[in-house]
Amino acid sequence: MEVLGSEWKHPVACASGVLGSNAPGMMTAASMGASAIFTKTVTPDPRPGHPGPCYVDLVDEEGYAMNAMGLPNPGPEVMAEEVSSFREAYPEVPVYCSVSAEDPDGFARVAATLSEVSDGVEINVSCPHAGAGMGAELGSDPNAVEEVVSAVVSSVDVPVSVKLTPNVDRRTLLEVAEKAVDAGADALTAVNTLGPGLRIDPTTRSPVLGAGVGGISGPALKPVALRIVADVALHLGDDVEIIGVGGVSKGRDVVEFLMAGAKAVQMGTATRDRTFHEVALETERLLEELELTWEEAIGAALDSYERALRRLGWA
Ligand SMILES: Cc1cc2nc3c(=O)[nH]c(=O)nc-3n(C[C@H](O)[C@H](O)[C@H](O)COP(=O)(O)O)c2cc1C
Repeated sequence: MEVLGSEWKHPVACASGVLGSNAPGMMTAASMGASAIFTKTVTPDPRPGHPGPCYVDLVDEEGYAMNAMGLPNPGPEVMAEEVSSFREAYPEVPVYCSVSAEDPDGFARVAATLSEVSDGVEINVSCPHAGAGMGAELGSDPNAVEEVVSAVVSSVDVPVSVKLTPNVDRRTLLEVAEKAVDAGADALTAVNTLGPGLRIDPTTRSPVLGAGVGGISGPALKPVALRIVADVALHLGDDVEIIGVGGVSKGRDVVEFLMAGAKAVQMGTATRDRTFHEVALETERLLEELELTWEEAIGAALDSYERALRRLGWA
């Protein structure tokens, strides 16, 4: 199906930040069967990232992982070379570059450089631990999002998705999504990590993560992400493509995201022990059992979700 302007062979893509930091990582994701790759977020200047530890995996114990990488990246010029090497090796796998900055000009500059070598751009206004004035701070302000999206859209010729933060109330979320679409976004990616959250090591009496706080990903994020996908789909579904992300680790998760209104999904944390190929195959089998095509599944639960919202006075 066509997603974000390119043909995707199945609905399961690689989420930003997990394998797309450089060409070898992108090649690993492609060899694990990703239908598309979203790169690590790139900023106007290289960033070293936060001090370690940057990642704790508590999926088996507590149902989530937490990370505070701090957007480490080599800057747009080096990343453009990495993306180009990857595309030479895997021309059939679409690549979308995730971009972030502190102001609309910075976003536009990074997006312009990377759009030359990629199939599209994902605007990251949703990282919960990027620091003051960046990430989710920008993405919680509908007017700031509108300015960023306008600047990016007018500086690139490729499809643009805006990655939403889950860390806002329902009304703000819908306002942010609406402004992004009004400013020209072709798609919305829902969602980035939840939080930030805190975890303490009792022996050191200190936060476990080097940055102190981190974003929550994995299975615990899935119900929040699904609800946001469904809310955005009901509000704007006819005007924009939606890509669901948060806690996808099996075919059942993908089908739920499709039924909530997503056209496709991304998988991040679950790449620890699942391949995109396996999850895509499970999705295909479950859709067959349900006698639905990929296309027919999209939004299949929205009528009954809307009726439930009406009973709560929210629709
Ligand atoms: C280690 C790690 C690094 C991440 N880095 C980025 C990033 O650079 N940019 C971004 O937009 N999201 C980033 N994310 C968020 C993921 O793209 C995704 O939105 C989130 O993890 C939820 O999906 P999941 O539950 O499948 O992991 C990162 C997530 C993890 C776990």
